[in-house]
Amino acid sequence: MTTGFESRVAHYTARVEDVMDSVLPPATQAPKQLHDAMRYAVFNGGKRVRPLLVYAAGECLGVREDRLDAPAAAIEFIHAFSLVHDDLPAMDDDDIRRGKPTLHRQFDEATAILAADALQPLAFGVLADAHDVAAATRSRLVKVVADAAGSMGMTGGQSMDLAAEGQSLAAEEIEHMYSLKTGALIHAAVVAPTIVADDLGADRASAIEAFGHTIGIAFQIRDDILDVEGETEVIGKRSGADQRLGKATYPGLVGIDEARARCDSLLRSAIEQLDDFGEDAEPLRWLARFIVERGN
Ligand code: IPE
Ligand code: IPE
Ligand code: MG
Ligand code: MG
Ligand code: MG
Repeated sequence: MTTGFESRVAHYTARVEDVMDSVLPPATQAPKQLHDAMRYAVFNGGKRVRPLLVYAAGECLGVREDRLDAPAAAIEFIHAFSLVHDDLPAMDDDDIRRGKPTLHRQFDEATAILAADALQPLAFGVLADAHDVAAATRSRLVKVVADAAGSMGMTGGQSMDLAAEGQSLAAEEIEHMYSLKTGALIHAAVVAPTIVADDLGADRASAIEAFGHTIGIAFQIRDDILDVEGETEVIGKRSGADQRLGKATYPGLVGIDEARARCDSLLRSAIEQLDDFGEDAEPLRWLARFIVERGN
């Protein structure tokens, strides 16, 4: 099944949401407010792009979907935790996320910090419990997700993003920061299936890695364009936030038209990086176009 990925988006979204639902403690379980907040962070309308990338890369490499559920859920838990922290007053101080109050507004700051704290180990617990993949594969998945989340991945990129407020960075420095704060988890999402796949050659694995790197940067440039051009009601978050915070962004440096051109050129490169997979990579190409053309 390699074409018409769009028709399987709802299936995969429901699938990863079922897995996350089964792993998250019920909101009736003590400490109730913490569990309620963790569920609020996860089940408030995310697009699930990272899990979709896991399943799309899995289709490309012929990996059974049940072997992808754990990395899909784990990476989405890390993503959810990163958004809760990103919105805190000490970071981007946002009050709307996915069209609803941010977690610290809906609950309180301490609960937001703790809910994110608890989502992170939950991600690694899901990977540890993935008994349908061999133990050695499981530990490699843990390592990929740990690296993507850590100080040389998403968290490191978030640190650079905050340090760059009010500063002017060069385009390459901005792209490096994007490849970490946003790109690292996107990269991990497409690399995880290469670990689960049997007998994948080094060339195919590095082509997928290159695709993940390229489309991760494009994802953040598109996010920044939407911050400038999008309406709060459509993007589900307060528009114009980057300018208000003096964020070093790609459109801030080169303007919207050039940012859009850079996004298109990254999309072309990402699609070329999949050339050797032929038709099998259609799901990943579809998602790459979605990432660059999306309206929220
Ligand atoms: C938003 O990510 C944060 C960034 C890394 C730019 P998404 O646009 O994937 O957010 P949701 O999960 O769909 O809300
Ligand atoms: C966030 O970048 C990246 C994360 C790792 C959460 P942004 O700060 O631009 O994300 P939004 O616009 O708040 O979703
Ligand atoms: Mg931020
Ligand atoms: Mg933010
Ligand atoms: Mg943004």
